[in-house]
Amino acid sequence: MAKILSTVFFFLHFILPIIASSSENQVYIVYFGEHKGDKALHEIEEYHHSYLAYVKETEEEARASLLYSYKHSINGFAARLSPAQASILSDMEEVVSVFRSHPMKHKMHTTRSWEFVGLEEGIKPQFDLKTENSESLLTRAKYGRNVIVGVLDSGYWPESQSFRDEDMGPIPKSWKGICQIGDAFNSSHCNRKVIGARYYIKGYKNHYGKLNRTLDYLSPRDKDGHGTHTSSTVGGRTVPNAAFMGDLARGTASGGAPLVQLAIYKVCWATPGQDKVDGNTCFEEDMLAAMDDAISEGVHVMSVSIGTTKAVDYSHDGIAIGALHAVKKGIVVACSAGNSGPQAATLSNTAPWIITVGASSLDRKFLAPVVLGNGVVIEGETITTYRLDNVTFPLVYAGDVSVPNIPHELAGQCLPNSLLPEKSYGKIVFCLRGNGTRVGKGMEVKRAGGIGYILGNTKGQGEEIVADPHVLPATAVGEKEAVKILNYIKSKTTSFPTAKILPASTVVGTSPAPFMASFTSRGPNLVDPTILKPDITAPGLNILAAWSEADAPTKLGIDDRRVKWNIYSGTSMSCPHVAAAAALLKAIHPTWSSAAIRSALITTAGLKNNNESLITDSVGNPADSFQFGAGHLRPTKAADPGLVYDASYNDYLTYLCSLNMPGFDPSFNCPQNLPKTNDLNHPSLAISKLIGSITVTRTVTNVGKGTSKYLATVTPPMGYKIKISPDSLIFKHKGEKKSFEITVEKDKDVNVQQYEFGWLTWSDGLHTVRSPIVVSSA
Ligand SMILES: *[C@@H]1O[C@H](CO)[C@@H](O)[C@H](O)[C@H]1NC(C)=O
Ligand SMILES: *[C@@H]1O[C@H](CO)[C@@H](O)[C@H](O)[C@H]1NC(C)=O
Ligand SMILES: *[C@@H]1O[C@H](CO)[C@@H](O)[C@H](O)[C@H]1NC(C)=O
Ligand SMILES: *[C@@H]1O[C@H](CO)[C@@H](O)[C@H](O)[C@H]1NC(C)=O
Ligand SMILES: *[C@@H]1O[C@H](CO)[C@@H](O)[C@H](O)[C@H]1NC(C)=O
Repeated sequence: MAKILSTVFFFLHFILPIIASSSENQVYIVYFGEHKGDKALHEIEEYHHSYLAYVKETEEEARASLLYSYKHSINGFAARLSPAQASILSDMEEVVSVFRSHPMKHKMHTTRSWEFVGLEEGIKPQFDLKTENSESLLTRAKYGRNVIVGVLDSGYWPESQSFRDEDMGPIPKSWKGICQIGDAFNSSHCNRKVIGARYYIKGYKNHYGKLNRTLDYLSPRDKDGHGTHTSSTVGGRTVPNAAFMGDLARGTASGGAPLVQLAIYKVCWATPGQDKVDGNTCFEEDMLAAMDDAISEGVHVMSVSIGTTKAVDYSHDGIAIGALHAVKKGIVVACSAGNSGPQAATLSNTAPWIITVGASSLDRKFLAPVVLGNGVVIEGETITTYRLDNVTFPLVYAGDVSVPNIPHELAGQCLPNSLLPEKSYGKIVFCLRGNGTRVGKGMEVKRAGGIGYILGNTKGQGEEIVADPHVLPATAVGEKEAVKILNYIKSKTTSFPTAKILPASTVVGTSPAPFMASFTSRGPNLVDPTILKPDITAPGLNILAAWSEADAPTKLGIDDRRVKWNIYSGTSMSCPHVAAAAALLKAIHPTWSSAAIRSALITTAGLKNNNESLITDSVGNPADSFQFGAGHLRPTKAADPGLVYDASYNDYLTYLCSLNMPGFDPSFNCPQNLPKTNDLNHPSLAISKLIGSITVTRTVTNVGKGTSKYLATVTPPMGYKIKISPDSLIFKHKGEKKSFEITVEKDKDVNVQQYEFGWLTWSDGLHTVRSPIVVSSA
């Protein structure tokens, strides 16, 4: 993923450009769509083998080339093929698609966050664990009891307090998963909390060779920390008095659904680097095997904080394929949107049957102010535990103490070996963000003998601060403050710049919050611009959750600190928040489809920050639906959405026919009269290249009280007229469905080039069912 962001996001995601490999035989995934159900498991493997035998020279070669045969829901296999062999297979009629597996850098992509998503609810902390007698969402959902959440990630740290099992219910009889033993991991590590744990490594091994077991455990145990963080965010037990090293973010840590049962699927592994681990890589063929197992073993929700950095069409996207088969079984799949913002059109995981999650801030800061020699106090944030207390040191700008010959645009960025020790020693060094990682810049200051480090944002990051556990005393400041510091250092009236960095303290209730993280990936959706993505935003900036005790909080080899909790940022962190909310909805409404749960989360999302204005980006400009989709997660409201936009597995197959990607299920025939892709009953509407006008159909299902009357109100996108017909809907009973049409027409005398944003809201006075509408004529 995004090296831009920093290795701290490590896992965050994403697909690097396809890793070049010298071998002529690459792993391809050959996909046949859903199983017809006419073959026994051993017959399926033979069937897959017959295709390989057809393109390979010998039986042995065919057998040796097979990595996985997907047999449960997904019909397909992963095998080493030459491009020519792949091409022969892709021309066969039964084959839906053949694609090179994408290795995904997991840029893979808590205490305060659960209270915070109660924002706008009126009931203060909505996930307040103390008010057990009240009808809070958590009590109604029995804290997620009897719901199983599958997490695809780097494994988990079984000793974490988040995964203890006392007072958990029994393992459900329906559960078919296993506890796969391995390095530092035996059957006693699974319990009634973590009821399944497995690992998938054939794709990794094919690419990197045998796992170096000093770099990672050949077992579900997490060496990285990312998987422990995401799985404890979804379903970690309530742990009082959790904090990051010492006292930061102290509070009760809890997963969003603390009594769900977890099934851990380790699909991301340490990437061997030159002299150290270089993040984690998750291979698509390994993920597909895990998804196929998770579906058949009986998970209800999947949380997947993994994705590509590029748009990949749905028939060539393993996560989209796996998720479609999951949705057929009613499983809700939540995925991270990606960390490739702030540029437009950077989303991953854009299929309409997935819930795609962007990242935004909490109302919490880790304040560590800078006091300049002239007395000016600058707000800064850090989670480093190294302190300078109240002592003043000389302050220098990195660009003034760098080795000569650094390109102008890179001076000041504290890249490796760029600082002159003789000019940095004993000083606080001010560095700018840009190339290189945030913690890596701190290491460079330390290497050069600097005593402290101030990291300044530039325009791209605005005022968003990712708090890092730096390896020396440090703090980070927003763009406006960075300018002030630089002006102070450069000012003619400053003969000897100095500063002190005060120790960090945790402050909650900061405003405005939430704001969108600058790194959150943005729309439009390049795979299909008629589906709006992301769907929703949730906390993903500076989130505290459990961590692997085999990894340092900075993930740097030279950092030998070990922690039980870590503060981490990325859409990897926001995705499990939404997965947890989906698990609570599943507990309350066990018969709801995956689409109904997704619709409930989307149409009840909030748009305001705690300053009562529209959520902004990190620079302070109003954010839009390409950043937050329908808005910020509000689980309590989602439990009672009033109406839902439901969609079935067959609706998605019809949609795929309209998209000219048929075949995901060979027993399904595309309808003769294909609807528009826009007609998919999705709880949002995106229109591109509009000429004149367009009319689309939607159907809502009444899930509120029996009789009700809903009225439509519209905020049209600038330059467009919107008509809803009919604009009132009367329901006589629960479960009743009503359809209506939305007509979007371009105003004749207005010339609109870019995307414009509007809303459709149905209300019965009690419920607000809100859908974003985005339109472009270009
Ligand atoms: C499993 O491993 C733990 C150490 O992590 C050990 O204490 C325990 O005896 C082992 N149990 C079994 C059944 O091997
Ligand atoms: C495994 O990784 C360690 C730590 O990076 C390294 O010292 C060792 O040489 C590696 N072993 C092999 C067989 O590559
Ligand atoms: C820090 O030092 C300044 C003067 O040097 C003093 O006024 C201030 O009270 C000190 N603050 C703390 C927290 O010790
Ligand atoms: C990173 O370095 C490249 C090469 O010097 C430069 O073109 C680019 O602008 C830099 N990016 C940032 C964000 O500083
Ligand atoms: C948020 O609201 C508070 C209280 O009304 C106000 O003092 C503050 O300036 C506002 N902040 C922003 C960024 O609008």
